[in-house]
Amino acid sequence: MPTQKTRQEHTETRLADWRPYPWKLDSTRLAFTIAPQATTVESTLVFGPGENGPGAEGPADLVLDGAGLNTLALTIDGQTIDETHVSRGEETLTIAAAALPPGGFTFAARVQIDPAANTALEGLYLSGGIYCTQCEAQGFRHITWYPDRPDVMAPFRVRITADQPVILSNGNPVGQGEGWAEWDDPWPKPAYLFALVAGDLRAVSGAFTTMSGRKVALNVWVRPGDEDRAGFALEALKKSMRWDEQVYGREYDLDVFNIVAVDDFNMGAMENKGLNIFNSKLVLASPETATDTDYERIEAVIAHEYFHNWTGNRITCRDWFQLCLKEGLTVFRDQQFTSDMRSAPVKRIEDVLNLRGRQFREDQGPLAHPPRPDHYQEINNFYTATVYEKGAEVIGMLKRLVGDDGYAKALDLYFQRHDGHAATIEDWLKVFEDATGRDLSQFKRWYVDAGTPRLTMTEAWDGDAGRLTLRFTQTTPPTPGQPDKPPRVIPIAVGLISPNGDEVLPTQVLEMTGASQDFTFDGLAARPVVSVLRGFSAPVMLERPIDAATQAFLLAHDTDPFTRWEAGRALARDSIIAMSQGGKPSAEYIPAVGRLLADTAADPAFRALALRLPSEEEIATAINAAGDVPDPDRIHAAREALARDIATTHRAALEATYDAMAVPGPYAPDAGPAGQRALRLAALGLLNRIDGGARAAALWESAGNMTEKQGALMALIEADRAGDALAQMEAQFGANRLVMDKWFMVQPLAASPDRAPEIAAALAERPDFDWKNPNRFRALLGGLAANHAGFHRADGAGYRFYTDWLLRLDPVNPQTTARLCSAFETFRRYDPARQALVRAELQRLAEQPGLSRNTAEMVGRILG
Ligand code: PHE
Ligand code: ZN
Repeated sequence: MPTQKTRQEHTETRLADWRPYPWKLDSTRLAFTIAPQATTVESTLVFGPGENGPGAEGPADLVLDGAGLNTLALTIDGQTIDETHVSRGEETLTIAAAALPPGGFTFAARVQIDPAANTALEGLYLSGGIYCTQCEAQGFRHITWYPDRPDVMAPFRVRITADQPVILSNGNPVGQGEGWAEWDDPWPKPAYLFALVAGDLRAVSGAFTTMSGRKVALNVWVRPGDEDRAGFALEALKKSMRWDEQVYGREYDLDVFNIVAVDDFNMGAMENKGLNIFNSKLVLASPETATDTDYERIEAVIAHEYFHNWTGNRITCRDWFQLCLKEGLTVFRDQQFTSDMRSAPVKRIEDVLNLRGRQFREDQGPLAHPPRPDHYQEINNFYTATVYEKGAEVIGMLKRLVGDDGYAKALDLYFQRHDGHAATIEDWLKVFEDATGRDLSQFKRWYVDAGTPRLTMTEAWDGDAGRLTLRFTQTTPPTPGQPDKPPRVIPIAVGLISPNGDEVLPTQVLEMTGASQDFTFDGLAARPVVSVLRGFSAPVMLERPIDAATQAFLLAHDTDPFTRWEAGRALARDSIIAMSQGGKPSAEYIPAVGRLLADTAADPAFRALALRLPSEEEIATAINAAGDVPDPDRIHAAREALARDIATTHRAALEATYDAMAVPGPYAPDAGPAGQRALRLAALGLLNRIDGGARAAALWESAGNMTEKQGALMALIEADRAGDALAQMEAQFGANRLVMDKWFMVQPLAASPDRAPEIAAALAERPDFDWKNPNRFRALLGGLAANHAGFHRADGAGYRFYTDWLLRLDPVNPQTTARLCSAFETFRRYDPARQALVRAELQRLAEQPGLSRNTAEMVGRILG
């Protein structure tokens, strides 16, 4: 039995310690005999001399990774390995060089594993009777002995014997019969992209003809009975395949592409070569069960995983520190795809909201890390908003700096130079340097430094000369392990608007490189209004002295949709902050909302975004950034009061908007009608504060789609009259896991803060709180954590309930437990009493005997 380690004993992996693997893996053959408690895995690995192998520094040992394996046999070239040549570490097996023919050899192993006991959902496991695998980042070592690192790539041939109707693996099918199938993947890949699925599944199928005329069979595999909810995912896949050909020139490279939906999954989805495995919530959709947001997300994640075929699979990462090489780029690509499929301005605003809500928050707290970290204890803790979303922002900046043509040239060079290899961030930057002739050494800081720069702008106007000078200064606050931050390159997109509302200078990108820098604009007839950080051209926090009247002017006249929206957002934010501190809302804000409601020519989706009030979390973040201590109760009360003020002042306009945005005819998940529904629900949310839930009750009765049903339900919960609706929903959808996840989530989320922890606790007692299922667990705990004032309730009930459940889940599923610890990452913002309560809960976690490495690392970093 391995001994349990305490927090301090867990070792760190460092980028500086990376060394090439000393052997070259030429091919991998696997044979699985599937059985619930005892699956046998036979592996045959053909090794040749590596670049740094024999000859370089003498013969090299063979180091293989493995965890929880019952090893039955190990051979080299067919001979059992003499035990004197074998040494075992905690998760490694080392075969001494003396036992290895230097010119190459075949290693074979036979092991047994227990998928039925695998609740961590890493390696081979069972989800509702379906065998499936999850190998990223280091799951393959739970399947067999292997060099489980992304820079060891090999073609795979896999034979699977299973008493199951459908048996899938990576690549192309090469043979099948009753109870067995064989698959061949010719494209060399690392072990983390391996996958296997066996179960009773049904396919929703289609076909795609690639740009060079090859026909690809497409299948979305679901459980019997779910076929009618898989069509949208299949169409999204076709669109993604076409888009990647048209925009990036990337063609698919196998005869089949399979997607499988499973209910038990730690993350969203996984890009295994030719066999993507998805959390069922990101595949299954029907108008009655999925919201507009679900549809948009399904389309984006299908695209994301498909795009990984080139950015991640054909070109993979040399080591896990380079994770943002594939994730930042693939998120950037899926964002571009959604912008092309839907509304680009709306998508940009949604992405910025998400970035600020999750990544800025991470960057401001104890979990801050660079997009490319240089050390970790548990790599699974680095699948973060910083690696993904900030990683994508950094690429957006790069594109802005080198221009569209430079970006296209650099990407072509990237695919040409690195196809079939495992690359680094240095390789990535080098293709941009080589393609554009630009020096990117300063730009690299974005990859290696943590923290969100604070950018301040001041203006100087010389009326006689008609000259405007903008002075920018940047500083980045210290983050764990990084006290000093040199200045970065910041692309700042600006435009100038004349006092009459005409644009006098269209968008220009200023390139800031110093700590402080001036930019001048000449030949101006009158002092213009500056529209700055258009399109959110860099992930920074902008501070500028600006009065509410100028914000209102920008909200009315800015030609850039992002900065236009941002101006309204700032007015709303400042109003709630002022009210939470005993003041009044900005005099400009409520009238500006009236103009927005009257502007019926504007895109409804944009108006919905502009009408929605900033979240309490966003307000707390802003108060904290200004150096004050946020009070969750006062923030909640202020936001409610502002919503009521708006509703009272603009009742008639809101009612007219609500009525006008009813979408006639059958439901379609497209951007147009989805935008109308979003605006309708935004109006409902405000009116709900003054009509006692009457409109919500009527909508609940009449709505024919889940978007409006869920909107109505949330409003009913807020109005404290949701009892019947909740009972009806349970009666209708009790057997539908995804709908019931929503049911579990909205109750703690929309509940009044003074009852939210108790509501969550009561729901946790229900027999259908299937807490070992990550979606169900996240629905309930995530719903509570997203209720800002409820989670942070002064008596600590929210913190206590949350921690009780983290303690319970940790031995069962460390990955999901560790991810949810981030709810505590902001605790130092709050008052000393709340800080003490959180600290006590974190201590309770830290002291738990046998706490997982995953959770131990998170708790240790949060406690600092
Ligand atoms: N690589 C997956 C994605 O981004 C995410 C993932 C990571 C899934 C680790 C499972 C485990 O698309
Ligand atoms: Zn990804």
